[in-house]
Amino acid sequence: MLKTLAVVGLQFGDEGKGKIIDYLASRFDIVARYQGGANAGHTVVVSGKTYKFHLIPSGILNKKICVLGNGMVIDPVELLKEMEMVEEYSPLKRILISERAHVVLPLHKEMDKIEEEIKSNSRVGTTGKGIGPAYQDKYARIGIRFGDLLDKNLLEKKIAINSKFKEMYLKENYDLKKIAEEYWRIGKKLKKNVVDTSAFLRKSIENGKSVLFEGAQGTHLDVDFGMYPYVTSSNTTIGGVITGLGIPPKYVGKVIGVMKAYTTKVGEGPFPTEIKDSTAKYILEKGNEYGTTTGRPRRIGWLDLNLVKYSVSLSGVNYIAISKIDILSGLEKVRVAYAYKIGNKIIRNLPSNIDDIYRLEPVYKEFDGWEFTELDVRKEIPKNMMNYIKFIEKFTGAKVRILSLGPARENTKILATI
Ligand code: IMP
Repeated sequence: MLKTLAVVGLQFGDEGKGKIIDYLASRFDIVARYQGGANAGHTVVVSGKTYKFHLIPSGILNKKICVLGNGMVIDPVELLKEMEMVEEYSPLKRILISERAHVVLPLHKEMDKIEEEIKSNSRVGTTGKGIGPAYQDKYARIGIRFGDLLDKNLLEKKIAINSKFKEMYLKENYDLKKIAEEYWRIGKKLKKNVVDTSAFLRKSIENGKSVLFEGAQGTHLDVDFGMYPYVTSSNTTIGGVITGLGIPPKYVGKVIGVMKAYTTKVGEGPFPTEIKDSTAKYILEKGNEYGTTTGRPRRIGWLDLNLVKYSVSLSGVNYIAISKIDILSGLEKVRVAYAYKIGNKIIRNLPSNIDDIYRLEPVYKEFDGWEFTELDVRKEIPKNMMNYIKFIEKFTGAKVRILSLGPARENTKILATI
């Protein structure tokens, strides 16, 4: 029996990780999230009810112990709201927050907006949740950590010092004492939940407990390996599991990558297989491709297997889960990019330089379409769809094990057990 499994996104986020994690969580004792913050949006549908998570691992709906790791940046006010949303799952008993996780302040959100304004035409298109500025403070060693919320005097002092660094930017007048008071009250409420999650996880694994490691965003938004500077501010790839939870690599068993059957992206930056035609509109509406966090319509493109292959190699992905393959159902032809071109030159490796990435033109293979929807979940996969899946496996070297055919748990097709 598999004891630990890490989940990573293989594209630009929004791959459907929330649903896959919810599906897998029943087999694990603990679900632990390793990076990001309320920029993420995981949608899970259970018994006809839709839950949208930004911070709490979706495993909470399986009544599992949920860990918010030190690699995260957490807005305490948003966390409390989310805990109230899932009150019936006893979150106070089940959620553990790393005392080392960093805290998002209201000032971070304002800075996020100001930084985007300064960047103007080269803005990243962030979610506006203060993620970048909170990570900046972490690395500048002026961040507030969750453990700091437990001591009111210390918290006031730290927030005052932190805000001094931002005086030249900020337009709003913050009542720093009020922020400290509000955050301290949340800290007091969550006192028993704020622990050394790294020690907890190591001990749990040593004692035979099973853990699912939950990632947010996707490989091509990774601050080191994504399409920099159009990235988020954390490591969304496998290294993030180790540093974001404080566990040794030997405790990471297998890795499952989640990909959408096509590609979507929110925010700015290059997107080699982007399409803007009637097929894009069809996918946008049929796939309800609007951001969970910001409501922005997502950019749509054909499946870019160059990106997926890179992600598989970078994070050592063993298995793949494909989401939304039902959305492509009904199209006459479906395209997949398996190389790029710059002029007449074939490019097989993704360049690191953003200007070079902008110049890439995808080289496509075309597949005949299929009809297969959530109603067919128990039926045999049609030949054309199987060709698509086999091509993904052959090209990336990872095994496709799960297909998602709709948002609900029961619309999941398992090709082979993990
Ligand atoms: P930030 O993480 O809010 O700083 O945004 C940086 C970039 O990552 C922007 O292009 C966002 O649209 C993108 N991004 C952040 N979180 C997600 C996510 O959960 N799904 C998809 N894109 C995201």
